[in-house]
Amino acid sequence: MKRIKAIYPGSFDPPTNGHLDLIERGSKIFDELVVAILGNPEKDPLFSVADRRKMLEAMTAEFDNVTIDTFDGLTVEYALRVEARAILRGIRAISDYEYELQMALMNRKLQPGLETVFMMPAEKYSYLSSRLVREIAQLGGSVDCLVPELVAQKLREKMDVAHKFTTADAAETAERLTQERMTPERKTKSRKRKS
Ligand code: PNS
Repeated sequence: MKRIKAIYPGSFDPPTNGHLDLIERGSKIFDELVVAILGNPEKDPLFSVADRRKMLEAMTAEFDNVTIDTFDGLTVEYALRVEARAILRGIRAISDYEYELQMALMNRKLQPGLETVFMMPAEKYSYLSSRLVREIAQLGGSVDCLVPELVAQKLREKMDVAHKFTTADAAETAERLTQERMTPERKTKSRKRKS
């Protein structure tokens, strides 16, 4: 019997519970599933490809037939390289459909032998996206029920570093502006007081 290998391509920046739900569903119907992270240098990602790979590897460790890989260039070419016969994509709501249909048909045009298979994540993830997770985390909201704990932890670490930089930048800017507004005499006094 033919073994069916599929790829699940995406940005996964960061991976969410919705992605994990789809990976679990995909792992049940395909013999092998490769989660393929697109390393797209045009976008300005929050997480490096290496970080995303580590997170996905940890999240999917329990699935024997799931592996994580990265790729650049066309998805169909990557699929051919790894000898996959299907591309797995998730459709959350009707709003996803148009873009996904366009992509699936274009991929079919490029590579007629490759099938796109759509699966729906659990309803509770139908409003979940990496973009919203990034936005919520950046604005200080909780992402605890939206992503696995290890991803939430990584997001907290990222935001702490960003916060420290912003605070340091703000202090530096305030100091510079104060110095600029001062007379040369007061500047010297201020520097002496600090040293
Ligand atoms: O998670 P995303 O960002 O919705 O994933 C989109 C992705 C990576 C599947 C899509 O952008 C893609 O396939 N990019 C690779 C380049 C490519 O093949 N483009 C032609 C698509 S028809």
